Amino acid sequence: MKHKITKLTISTSFDVYPSFDALQAEDRELLAKAKKAVKSAYAPYSNFHVGAAILLQNGKIVTGNNQENAAYPSGLCAERVALFYANANYPNVGVKTIAVSVASAHQIINEPVSPCGACRQVIAEYENLFESPIRIIMSGETGKIFVSESIENLLPFMFNKKHLK
Ligand code: THU
Repeated sequence: MKHKITKLTISTSFDVYPSFDALQAEDRELLAKAKKAVKSAYAPYSNFHVGAAILLQNGKIVTGNNQENAAYPSGLCAERVALFYANANYPNVGVKTIAVSVASAHQIINEPVSPCGACRQVIAEYENLFESPIRIIMSGETGKIFVSESIENLLPFMFNKKHLK
């Protein structure tokens, strides 16, 4: 018996801004807060300092940064620190935008930092919970800035709560 194998292609896209100044004012304000949060990251083991700032649907902004630990896996990324803080303190409020920035003690990072797989899954959870797309602003210390209009672009074919019904 012959089986017909087809291919499923999933495409993804970001908006690419040439610099910080090219962003719209609301995004500049949020990314500036993420960059400020970078400064208080606790990252003595990797020296890779990440900051995240979240704009909630009610207009509030919360921030977080990576928190490392001598027992390495006990640490947590900036994105999840900020997202868990947001949903712990504003449990019924959706997330509009998350901005992420970075600084390393070892090199100047001139490419946007991209959330790790676990953070993408957590962003997806809140996007699905509030049924409202979360914009993701990704920045390095300098250089271009990527903006995704939804987690769908970073986590295509995601596992989510719909599969559990
Ligand atoms: N890290 C983040 O906080 N966010 C990311 O998007 C990538 C990685 C942290 C985790 C760890 O503390 C350090 O960066 C190096 O992986």
